[in-house]
Amino acid sequence: MVPTLIAHAGAAADPDNRDAYRVSLRAALAAGWVRLRGGGSSLDAVQATIEALEDDPLLNAGRGSALTEVGTVECDASIMEGEHLAAGAVGAVSGVPNPIRLARRVMEDGRQVLLVGDGAIAFARQHGVPLCEPGELVTARQRARLAERLAGEPGPGSARRHAGAAAGPGGGTVGAVAIDGRGLVTAGTSTGGAVGKRSGRVGDSALVGCGTYADNRLGGVSTTGHGEAFIRTVLAKTALDILLDLDDPELACQVALDVVREDGRGDGGLVLLDWRGRLGWAHSTPFMPVGWCLPGAPEPILAF
Ligand code: GLY
Repeated sequence: MVPTLIAHAGAAADPDNRDAYRVSLRAALAAGWVRLRGGGSSLDAVQATIEALEDDPLLNAGRGSALTEVGTVECDASIMEGEHLAAGAVGAVSGVPNPIRLARRVMEDGRQVLLVGDGAIAFARQHGVPLCEPGELVTARQRARLAERLAGEPGPGSARRHAGAAAGPGGGTVGAVAIDGRGLVTAGTSTGGAVGKRSGRVGDSALVGCGTYADNRLGGVSTTGHGEAFIRTVLAKTALDILLDLDDPELACQVALDVVREDGRGDGGLVLLDWRGRLGWAHSTPFMPVGWCLPGAPEPILAF
């Protein structure tokens, strides 16, 4: 099998920061590709790519995550491999610089698929996953975004406000999908979620089938955008089911987004890598940074 890696930096990315996204995505893809190219597993490649993106404060994952309505960081992440359909995920975790690493540890532990909140943090402590002071993940840029969001919305406690926050975009959610030399497909996604979300809200990025899915017989998907719409339409798995019908990764992504628009009432984007190593991606928002690595290409290819 020809190793391949694709990654995205969010369907609500700001086109004014195009150059910074190029630097960030190129470095993250390189971090994953060095593993794949050297014969490593797609699991290691996806984790390394996403960790690099989580470390970039420009992006809505790890440090730099979007803030809840009370100004805290609560991250979601998931990772899945397509041979055994093993998966690990965390939801609403605070003080975790690399939530994808914690999700991977949940997957390897194997007793559960999804851990949330304080239970997930206790698991991280037991399993030696690095933690930090929750405030260390808060950036001035996200504080300003939250202030802007709250200023434009009805006051605290309003039902309309909570509905609006839940429906907000996921910002620069990050994700990656890879296939390695022995045909193992892995997909992963990580996010701080929607700006001004209610504390305790968990989005699609923590949910297998919605934000992330991998199956060696089909391929893998990572999504970014309107989490509630993606949950309603089980977007990642839906895209792979559509691929089964259409046998065209690009078209499958576009049709999946049509489903989200019509049935889920939301927008966003996704990247897809099929079991043969064919790439697809699409977004219904103005801008989504995407890039990939293929054997023979001297460096990551960026599509923006
Ligand atoms: N898609 C990321 C989120 O809605 O949380």
